[in-house]
Amino acid sequence: MPDLKRLIDTAKKAMEKAYAPYSNFQVGAAILDNNGQLHAGCNVENSAYPIGCCAEQAAVTAMILGGGQAIQDIVVIAKKHNPCPPCGACRQVIAEHSDHNTKIHLLTQGDGLTTFQVSELLPQAFSPDHLDSC
Ligand code: THU
Repeated sequence: MPDLKRLIDTAKKAMEKAYAPYSNFQVGAAILDNNGQLHAGCNVENSAYPIGCCAEQAAVTAMILGGGQAIQDIVVIAKKHNPCPPCGACRQVIAEHSDHNTKIHLLTQGDGLTTFQVSELLPQAFSPDHLDSC
């Protein structure tokens, strides 16, 4: 699938740009949106540790800025981990901008892909629907 290959390359390039001097854990993420556009993000840490930003959240921000409405595919890769599962906060952010077809691909250093649906990584997710019913 050519789009997936492009997405993997984009995630790897983003990972190389990560600013992670404190954890030394570089992460890259790339999104293919519902319009067929690619968006990338990397983690950006800060000397005030808690305000660092994860790669997936940066990629979602880029997607919104680029006019995308939904994640079709997101690839996540980390330099030191095999593979890198999105943290809880990133799962919530990904869920907010997903639909039933969204796929989350975790990439290993050997280019293996493990693919999940959002509901597998975040079952019983809090969603915008709950705001109306709570
Ligand atoms: N990190 C991400 O970018 N995405 C995740 O889903 C997990 C963690 C980053 C945050 C921090 O800069 C570093 O990895 C170590 O936690």
